Amino acid sequence: MKKILIINGPNLNLLGNREKNHYGDSSLQKIKSLCETVCEKNNLECDFFQSNNEGDIIDKIHSVDKGYDGIIINPAAYTHTSVAILDALKANAKPKIEIHISNIYAREEYRRKSITSEAVNGLICGFGENSYTLGIEAISKLIYK
Ligand code: DQA
Repeated sequence: MKKILIINGPNLNLLGNREKNHYGDSSLQKIKSLCETVCEKNNLECDFFQSNNEGDIIDKIHSVDKGYDGIIINPAAYTHTSVAILDALKANAKPKIEIHISNIYAREEYRRKSITSEAVNGLICGFGENSYTLGIEAISKLIYK
């Protein structure tokens, strides 16, 4: 079976308590369980990772060459700042989808630019926790095309 890595950036460990008006009630643990269920339905195995540190996220992206067939990433605030994460994503040839819980294009000016999305096949945002499930369906189509 094909396997994907779902990467979550800074402060997403606080989901469920953090700015519920933007990010909803679901904890990251609940989103992880939802992703596992949807991955199973799409014939995918998944590993779920969260870090508040840019370097750890970059190391994790480097690990995708061995053992994974694609990446779903919510880079969180690094979306808007990190050329280093962009470069790590660019160095990886596997299918990649960027996701966001909120619609970053309908929020503050500084969130309306995604630096990291230049390196991905596509971007899904604004569907709450379903941005993750839509991302899984999208990457499954890219992996099993
Ligand atoms: C986010 C949007 C980012 O702008 C923000 O910094 C986050 C979460 C989202 O999922 O909507 O931490 O990536």
